[in-house]
Amino acid sequence: MTVGLCRGYISTVKIAGIQIESLAFLAPMAGYTNSAFRQLCKEMGAGFVFTEFVSSEGIIRESQKTFNYLQFNQSERPIGIQLFGHNPKVMAEAARIIEERYRPDVIDLNFGCSVRKVVKKDAGAALLKNPSLLQSVAQSVVKAVKTPVTAKIRAGWNHQSIVALDVARILENAGVTALTIHPRTASDGYRGTANWDLIAEVKNLLSIPVIGNGDIKHPEDAVRMRNETGCDAVMIGRAAIGNPWIFEQVKQLLNGNYDYFKPGLSDKLDMCLKQIEYERQISDDEHVNRIMKKYYRHYINGFPNASNIRNRLVRSESIREAINIINEIKSLTTQ
Ligand SMILES: Cc1cc2nc3c(=O)[nH]c(=O)nc-3n(C[C@H](O)[C@H](O)[C@H](O)COP(=O)(O)O)c2cc1C
Repeated sequence: MTVGLCRGYISTVKIAGIQIESLAFLAPMAGYTNSAFRQLCKEMGAGFVFTEFVSSEGIIRESQKTFNYLQFNQSERPIGIQLFGHNPKVMAEAARIIEERYRPDVIDLNFGCSVRKVVKKDAGAALLKNPSLLQSVAQSVVKAVKTPVTAKIRAGWNHQSIVALDVARILENAGVTALTIHPRTASDGYRGTANWDLIAEVKNLLSIPVIGNGDIKHPEDAVRMRNETGCDAVMIGRAAIGNPWIFEQVKQLLNGNYDYFKPGLSDKLDMCLKQIEYERQISDDEHVNRIMKKYYRHYINGFPNASNIRNRLVRSESIREAINIINEIKSLTTQ
């Protein structure tokens, strides 16, 4: 691992042999971080992007639905494909298939998902309750592929079992290349605040790069997280939805430019149109119209008349109609 200048100065980090200039990474988010959105984030300065988690069982069953999540454009590199599951053999076989078919820059192991349908199958954050199985999963995937393996964890299962430090050590010893920590417990879900002190503790313990995640709402938070925890890079989730500018803003701040670009309504409408264009290169118009409805409320807020514009967009019956509405608002806006 090489870390460039840190604490407020221009920095870089080397992950999986790739020197990364932008220290703000896009978090995996099921239902949001598809190829079109990842492309936008990459263009806007994200240093690393991840697919949403995919099921190892789905991959070895050759489920087309699962494979659809894995498609990416070469412009998205460096990219990680995130995998979940609890069976070391199945995880290893799924990783081999991913490596052969998609050649991602890293394969990321999900040990943080707290969603019921995942943890009830002993996968995701449930593995934090079973460190020896988590170790077997990580060792068996690392052994199965040449692609570097990374992992993403939470603090622990609940506040009575904070295991991040033990698990971090296990994962480093298993040969994981970098580790992301979202310091909430599985039982927290998204409640409360992420305990950034734990990011600092994990960073102090490991020699592999540590990526801090959780509660970066504004670009200034990313700089604060780096300064307070010493993490090598930050990962941004919810604050990037409808706001891919945040990656460039963090980059600017880390370069000491406090007067970074802030998008107006017109920029946001243009970004919606660009996302629609990228989505249409992948999916049919009906699907694109459905997907975009999840993003409008994130893109269009904080402006006069925003709720009216959003309501019109979420009621649109076709993507053509949505594009017409966006163009109409654009022609009326001076912001
Ligand atoms: C809608 C949604 C979907 C998510 N899906 C995943 C996922 O597939 N894999 C994963 O590791 N984390 C997933 N997460 C967790 C995020 O990657 C991230 O850890 C969490 O949102 C905290 O970061 P933030 O405060 O920047 O949003 C998801 C979060 C959200 C809100």
